[in-house]
Amino acid sequence: MLEEKASAGETMNDRVFYVTTPIYYPSDKLHIGHAYTTVAADCMARYKRMRGYDVFFLTGSDEHGQKIERKAAERGMDPQSYVDKIVASFQQLWERLLITNNDFIRTTEPRHEKAVQALFQKLYEQGDIYKSYYEGLYCTPCEAFWLERQLVDGNCPDCGRPVEHVKEESYFFRLSKYQDRLLQYIEENPGFIQPASRRNEMINFIKSGLEDLCVSRTSFKWGVPVPFAPDHVVYVWFDALVNYLSALGWQDGDQRFDHYWPHAVHLMAKDIVRFHSVIWPIILMAAGLPLPRTIFGHGWLLLEGGKISKSKGNVVDPMILIDRYGVDAVRYYLLRELPYGADSYYSEDDLINRINTDLANDLGNLISRTLGMVKKYQGGVLAAPGPAEGPDGDLINCAREVKVELEQQLERMDFSSALAAIWKLVRRANRYVDETTPWVLARDPDQKERLATVLYNLSEAVRILTIWCSPFMPVFPERVFAQFGIADQPELHSWDSTEDWGRMPVNLRMEPGPGIFPRIMVESEAESQSEKEGKTAEKKPAKESKEKAPEEKPQITIDEFARLDLRVALVKSAEKIKGADRLLKLEVELGEETRTIVAGIAQHYTPESLVGKSVVVVANLAPVKLRGVTSYGMILAASEGEALGILTVDREVPPGSRVK
Ligand code: MSP
Repeated sequence: MLEEKASAGETMNDRVFYVTTPIYYPSDKLHIGHAYTTVAADCMARYKRMRGYDVFFLTGSDEHGQKIERKAAERGMDPQSYVDKIVASFQQLWERLLITNNDFIRTTEPRHEKAVQALFQKLYEQGDIYKSYYEGLYCTPCEAFWLERQLVDGNCPDCGRPVEHVKEESYFFRLSKYQDRLLQYIEENPGFIQPASRRNEMINFIKSGLEDLCVSRTSFKWGVPVPFAPDHVVYVWFDALVNYLSALGWQDGDQRFDHYWPHAVHLMAKDIVRFHSVIWPIILMAAGLPLPRTIFGHGWLLLEGGKISKSKGNVVDPMILIDRYGVDAVRYYLLRELPYGADSYYSEDDLINRINTDLANDLGNLISRTLGMVKKYQGGVLAAPGPAEGPDGDLINCAREVKVELEQQLERMDFSSALAAIWKLVRRANRYVDETTPWVLARDPDQKERLATVLYNLSEAVRILTIWCSPFMPVFPERVFAQFGIADQPELHSWDSTEDWGRMPVNLRMEPGPGIFPRIMVESEAESQSEKEGKTAEKKPAKESKEKAPEEKPQITIDEFARLDLRVALVKSAEKIKGADRLLKLEVELGEETRTIVAGIAQHYTPESLVGKSVVVVANLAPVKLRGVTSYGMILAASEGEALGILTVDREVPPGSRVK
C-alpha cells in the first residue's frame, strides 16, 4: 500500500514516512515481545531512510492510569518517580537494540498533556463528549471497559484476568455517532487496517454496534485532569493515543505535524488493534483531522504456557539475550521468527538454531569463504572479472529477483518473508561456490581469469547481501565493508547500489578478520568438543576411561601439524561465567594482542590460580560463542579420568612465542 502510493506519481517531497510503536506501559520492564514491535518499526525506519524517505520514527511511554498508580503505591513510591526509573530502562534497552527513533514521547510531559486537554476540550465544546454516569466492568491491567456479555468465563476477554465493578460519574465520547462513517472508511480503504485478517475482525466488531465510550475517571488521580472538571482524569487510552499527535507538535503550530502526520503508520500487536482502529479514528474524525495511513497489527510472540507476561512469570529479558548473543542475532531472530500476522513461540533453542544455521553456516560462512579465497588465491586483492559463463547468469538473476521480492515484502511489513527472500541469494551464492569449485580453478594457471570472475561475483553477492541485511542487522555491515576494503565508500553501501550487479570495485585490499557470526556452542557441545580434543574428561567416569586405551588417531605429516598455530599465552585475568559451572573466561596476552578464551576448566582451577601462568593455546581455531562469550582459541590441557592439568612452559619465554 505504502509503495503503491509512493510510486503512483508522487514527487520526492512526498516520500515521507511516519512510523510509530505503541507507547509501552512503564508498569514493568519490557520483554522480548515489546522488543519485537520496536525492532520491526526500526527495521522499517532504517529501510525507508535507505530508500530516500524523510522518516520520523516515534516510540515512548504511556505513564498514566490506575494500573501504574497502584504499582507505585505497592512499592511505596510516588507514581512519577516510579515511572521515571522504568522509563530509563526502556531507553537503555532501545539504545542497546540500536533503535533509531527520532523522538521519545512520555505522556507525563507538558507538551503531551497540553494536547490531550486541548482535544478533550474541543470535543466537549462541540458536543461529542458529554457527562453521564458509568456503571460497569473495568479491566485495570488492560485499562479497558467491558460489557457483561463480552466477558469470557466472567473474566477480561483480552487478558483473562478478573474485571472490577466500577460506578462513577463520567464523561462519555460519542463513538456511536461515528460508527457508520468509520465502517465506510474501513471498507473503502483496504490498506487502512492490515493484515486483512485484522481488518475483517474489526469490521465485524464495529458492525456488532459501538457504544459510547467512558473517557474520564474519578476513582483515582494519576492522569491528565479534564480541563473543565479537574476532579476527573482523562481515560488513559484517550490520553495515550494522542501521543501520535503531541510528539509532532500538534497544537504548537509545529510544521512537523502537517508534514508527517498524513503518512502515519502505527505498528502494534493484535491486542491493541481495536483501540487504534475504532477509538483513534473516531477521535480524529471528530476533531476534523486526517486519519493515519495504516494500522498494522502483528501477531504475538508466545512462550509455552501462553502470552509472555510478568504475572505469569514467563518473561524473557532482551538485555540478557543481547549480552549473550549480540544485537544483530537477537534482531534477526525476532524478525525472522514471527510469520506475517501470525503468532510464534519463543525458545532459546530456536534462537541458537537460527544463529548457527542462518547466520553462522549460511551467511557467515559465505562471507568468510569469500574473503579467505581472495586472500589465498589473489593475495587479498580482488581482481577484475572476465566474461560471465556457467552459473554466473543464474546467480545474477537470483539477485535481481530477490531484490524485487524483498522490497515487496518490506512494503507490506512481512519481515520474515523479506529475510527468507534474502536467504535465497545467500544459499544460491553458497551453491555457486560448490558449482564453480574455486580451489580447483586455483590449481590451473589457465583458469586465472575464470577464478577472478568467480571471486568477483561472490564478493559482489556479499556486498549486496550486506546492504539488504542492514535494516535488520545494523552492526555487522560495517565489519564486512571494512574487511572488503570499502569502508570509506558510502555510495557502495546504499540501497540503490544494489540495483545493478557489478558495483564492487576491484584492486582493493581485502582483510579477513575474525568470523562475523560465530557459531554458538551449547555447553554440552563445548564439553564434548573438549573431550574430543583431549582437553578435559570431566564427564567420563574415571573407571571407564582408565579401562579404555586412548583412541588411536591417524598418522599426520609435519605439514599437517604445522597448520596448527600453537602459541604461548600469558593469562592476564580469569573469571567465572555466570550460569556455567565448568567455564572460565580468560584474557590472555599473545605478543602484541590480547584475546578472550573460554576454557572448560572451572572445576579444576580457580580463576586466581591461573593469572600469571604461561599456557599453551591453539591460536588459529575458528571462534565460537559459549554462554554469550566469544572464544578466540583453546587452552591445551592433559586429562585422564578426573585428573586434569593445563600445559605450561618450564622456563620463561615471551608471550606469543610459537610452540612447534
Ligand atoms: N500502553 C498501551 C499502548 C498505547 S499506544 C497508544 C499498551 N502498552 S503495552 O506495554 O501493554 O504494550 C503492548 C504492545 O507491546 C503490543 O501491542 C505489542 O506491540 C507489544 N507486545 C507486548 N507483548 C508482546 C508479545 N508477546 N508479542 C508481540 N508483541 C508484544 O498496550
